[in-house]
Amino acid sequence: MSKCAHLITIADLTLSQVENLFRVATSYTHQGYSAVTDVLRGKSVPLMFFESSTRTRISFEMAVGRHGGTPLNFRTRSSSTQKGESDLDSVRTVAAMDPAIIVLRHGSTGLIHEFAKESKVPLINAGNGAEEHPTQALIDIFTLSNSVDNFGPKSKILFIGDIEHSRVARSDISLLSRLGVQIYISGPPKLVHPSWLPSSAIIVSSPDEIISEVDAVVALRIQMERHQSTLLDSKDQYFSEFGLTVERAKNMRAEAVVLHPGPFNRGIEIASEVADGPRSRILSQVRNGLYIRMALIEFLIEGSQ
Ligand code: CP
Repeated sequence: MSKCAHLITIADLTLSQVENLFRVATSYTHQGYSAVTDVLRGKSVPLMFFESSTRTRISFEMAVGRHGGTPLNFRTRSSSTQKGESDLDSVRTVAAMDPAIIVLRHGSTGLIHEFAKESKVPLINAGNGAEEHPTQALIDIFTLSNSVDNFGPKSKILFIGDIEHSRVARSDISLLSRLGVQIYISGPPKLVHPSWLPSSAIIVSSPDEIISEVDAVVALRIQMERHQSTLLDSKDQYFSEFGLTVERAKNMRAEAVVLHPGPFNRGIEIASEVADGPRSRILSQVRNGLYIRMALIEFLIEGSQ
């Protein structure tokens, strides 16, 4: 990736660049509060979130601050979109002020692709519709690599949930399949057959078919906001058939771990006892988010590694 490149999909990064980002993020993780630089000193980074967010927006805000820069929060409700300006024109307007990077989340898949063609400012995709969430993939695979012994081609990861509408699943699975990891998928039949699924992924009708063999389970939120019609019969039935219940988690290997990119719904995708229990890496994912995003910002500003 050259100095002015964008991160739109996880495929924009080579495996060697991913490895380097993980190395830098590891160093920041060890430094903790002392991980402070002036990579962005005197520079601003607009955080343009046209969809709601907690962990992505705040971790980018912290990451920009730790690099000595100024994060600028664009909020649709108090912006000129309320006066009829289009979302694309809003991004163009902000880009015209020469920020160091723009972090963009949008409900459509297309806006970021359209703007990337003309943008001289590096863009980071913080989630575009149901398409991709590349920084979450970096976080999730970084967390797996720190949690699963000998993480690599022999590892087995089970994704449970709404694969069809999950931009996180798409970015995670894209990177995991390049790493040769064996992927299993389980969820309601209408939600597990996206066109982008690699042929090597194995769809199982129930998580119980494979849960005792995997190294990690990644539970996913049911993306109700992206469903055109009712695709789920009942939340209770979903929890019983696909939720990470206490009983299901007991069938996992002793060292196997549980991830969820968040936000998660207790009693639907995951039982509270599992989310808060010893297998859970959910808060590690959140913490890693800060350091992965710091590593990515440094990479985009300082050029190829
Ligand atoms: N994982 C994720 O994107 O969470 P937020 O929507 O809270 O940013």
